Amino acid sequence: MRYTSLFCALAVVVFSACGQEGSTPGDGQDQASTTTVPGEGGPLGAVPVPAENPLTEAKVALGQQLFFDSRLSVDGSRSCYSCHQNENGNGGALQKAVGPGGRQLPRHSPVIWNVGYMPRFYWDGRSGSLEAQARGAWGGGNMGVGAEYLPLKAAEIGAIPGYSEQFEAVFGARGATAGTIVEAIASYERTLVCDDTRYDRFMAGEGAALTEQQQFGLELFNGKAGCATCHTPPFFSAQFATDDGMYYNVGIGVAGVPESQVDVGRMSVTESDGDWAAFKVPSLRNIAESSPYFHDGSVSDLEQAVRYMAGPGVANKNLSPLIMDRGLTDDEVRALVVFLGSLSCPAELIRPELPGG
Ligand code: HEC
Ligand code: HEC
Repeated sequence: MRYTSLFCALAVVVFSACGQEGSTPGDGQDQASTTTVPGEGGPLGAVPVPAENPLTEAKVALGQQLFFDSRLSVDGSRSCYSCHQNENGNGGALQKAVGPGGRQLPRHSPVIWNVGYMPRFYWDGRSGSLEAQARGAWGGGNMGVGAEYLPLKAAEIGAIPGYSEQFEAVFGARGATAGTIVEAIASYERTLVCDDTRYDRFMAGEGAALTEQQQFGLELFNGKAGCATCHTPPFFSAQFATDDGMYYNVGIGVAGVPESQVDVGRMSVTESDGDWAAFKVPSLRNIAESSPYFHDGSVSDLEQAVRYMAGPGVANKNLSPLIMDRGLTDDEVRALVVFLGSLSCPAELIRPELPGG
């Protein structure tokens, strides 16, 4: 409950989830009225909203239900939330995600706080919008529906009493289609803003929000340890400030793997050798809550991940020259780890009531 009220207090998500009317949406008025813009007035600024998919309260509330509804998947086994749960800092619990039918997926589920600010999605940046990403996850291996069956699945969802009224209220004559479903889900995701961590409070002038050890860690992060070059504040990833994202080979996923079997990451999108086994720089917001780490989930302990990143990496044909031994003492590593704890997001994703059926 504490988290629920905190979440609502953010004022960015004062949608129906905060009241008890989660499954009884508005009467269409919402379509015209824009909601409070997520992130506005906070340290990260307003979340950009594409003109073709304006944000409304009713659409966000609908998207929130769809995000949590396993009836979207091919066999009812999984919702979007299944792999992006609060318990795992909204990344995945498993090293690599498992789709419907027990199908092993190639990568670890990332944290989805602040995805509304990101220029490109997935560890290799292959997707250019939240709408496209949601369609990919739903039609592909994550939810297993198959791209060609999305219209059929959309009709099924749209026929559920409680949903049909909402699609009509939010999308009018368009109703429930694959397109409107991903628009609603993407709208909900744009409200997932994490901008009120202890670090943010410290930066806003509340000196006591960070302990001395954490302040030392912050200094190291921005200085000697060289983390901020790639994990640049306030997003803790430089990719947020670019159009195409930022990808580096930091030597993860190459140790002991024959070159031909290495996940080539960004190179599968650009076909450029310089992107071989390069992955996007993940944000470090909520990192202390979201073990395991890296695109392959290969490290489960945060201190171990930090030690790796502050060290020489694993030699390979494309290792970034920015990965080098930073010569940190054990005390310095520990300070970095406790500093990263100040990036934990106080809010949680809220499961709404779902329409019957
Ligand atoms: C079976 C587990 C699973 C399910 C179900 C799932 N995801 Fe994911 N999600 C992942 C994995 C794994 C990745 C990373 C894949 C990659 O990079 O190749 C990912 C990536 C993402 C990203 C990109 C984040 C980033 O940092 O680039 C978003 C956004 C996202 N998922 C939202 C969704 C939505 C919306 C749904 C429902 C339509 C969904 N996910 C369903 C496992 C899952
Ligand atoms: C050259 C750019 C670069 C530098 C410098 C760098 N990182 Fe990273 N970091 C990355 C990339 C890229 C990944 C993702 C790698 C992968 O999964 O293949 C990553 C992943 C991480 C992760 C795991 C995140 C997750 O969601 O799984 C942590 C923790 C981390 N870095 C901390 C640090 C710390 C602490 C420092 C400073 C000691 C640092 N990094 C320096 C680029 C960098």
